[in-house]
Amino acid sequence: MSTDAIVMLKEDHARVRKLFIQFRQAGENATATKAAIVDKILEALTVHTFLENEVMYPRVQQLLPDLKDDVLESYEEHHVADVLCAELAAMDAADERFDAKTMVLIESVTHHIEEEEVGWFPKVREGMSRKTLQEIGAEMAELRKRAPRKPNQPSALKKAIDAVIS
Ligand SMILES: [Fe+2]
Ligand SMILES: [Fe+2]
Repeated sequence: MSTDAIVMLKEDHARVRKLFIQFRQAGENATATKAAIVDKILEALTVHTFLENEVMYPRVQQLLPDLKDDVLESYEEHHVADVLCAELAAMDAADERFDAKTMVLIESVTHHIEEEEVGWFPKVREGMSRKTLQEIGAEMAELRKRAPRKPNQPSALKKAIDAVIS
């Protein structure tokens, strides 16, 4: 597995996109199937967001100050997704709002991934050395081992709460 930070994050994005497709293709009444897919989506997003919040975004802000606005907007998009994830984690899949909330999460995360991959990750690739990106990747690989896996775990909520009260 590559430790290049951008390659690693794009692998996460690809995994999440696959889960989004599975959710869209699940039948209208496939409540149990959709609940299981959403569980996987919430876990994947919780880990991924944590790694970006704790490592990738701060490093980018520090090393490439010109990208500050992109990073700040990304933190806000993470925050919106965090709120939806926390609500979904507490919601029964049979709830009439479950599918609608999941679709809003899918749409908003798809937009966010697009902005990262097309909008500003290419500028990070351009502005950082291969070695730096590998160091950041290694740091994220290490942190992944103890990253929160559920949206309602305290370490996952911390950033969302920080964003609300700061
Ligand atoms: Fe992100
Ligand atoms: Fe991402």
